[in-house]
Amino acid sequence: MKHLIYFSSSAATSGKALSGGDLMGAGRMDIAIHSFIQGVFLSHGFRKDVTFHFIFYGMPDPPKHIQITVGEGLDISKKDIGNLIKKILYKFKQGENTEVFPGCFVEKKSLLNVIQELLDKDIEVFILDQDGKSIREVEIPKECAFLLGDHEGFPKKELKRLKDNLTTVSVGPHMYFASQTVAVVNNELDYRGI
Ligand SMILES: C[S@@+](CC[C@H](N)C(=O)[O-])C[C@H]1O[C@@H](n2cnc3c(N)ncnc32)[C@H](O)[C@@H]1O
Repeated sequence: MKHLIYFSSSAATSGKALSGGDLMGAGRMDIAIHSFIQGVFLSHGFRKDVTFHFIFYGMPDPPKHIQITVGEGLDISKKDIGNLIKKILYKFKQGENTEVFPGCFVEKKSLLNVIQELLDKDIEVFILDQDGKSIREVEIPKECAFLLGDHEGFPKKELKRLKDNLTTVSVGPHMYFASQTVAVVNNELDYRGI
């Protein structure tokens, strides 16, 4: 299983905050949605070997960790991801990791705790950063995870802690949209048969 982890310090953390349909006003939920589409959708299908994680630190109830793996019983359309996220957030229950739809979970969990949980399962976590090592030169195991930020990147304190412990990889010499980095990572893994 491959993991893509999208972090946003401003994305909304309640279903109500998303109910007006203003995705840009809800902490740039549009960027989260574009990244998810690049992470999970194919032209005529889905990447069923990818788990996509959203970690949202926006108001009113941070942090929220949403996890989506497309499989049997989950019917999603790329035109309706905002609504899917809204419904998942609405069903959040304090103290639980709630499965709202098949393969879709929501819980309260911080970025560092999500990363630690993946590391505890022997999944290697890479940070996506323009200044990292070229992805073409990095050994990547089958059980891997890639962490990316939204338009604001990562909070300095968290980033320093993560960089002390994880390998930082770059997908090219420019600062790309979050969704573009996801597409490049998936392409690299496709070529490697991961
Ligand atoms: C639009 S960029 C963030 C820009 C933000 N101002 C910053 O300085 O971090 C969104 C995310 O895409 C990823 N990213 C952008 N360009 C990249 C590159 N060349 N290599 C790897 N990751 C990249 C990073 O994870 C970044 O947090």
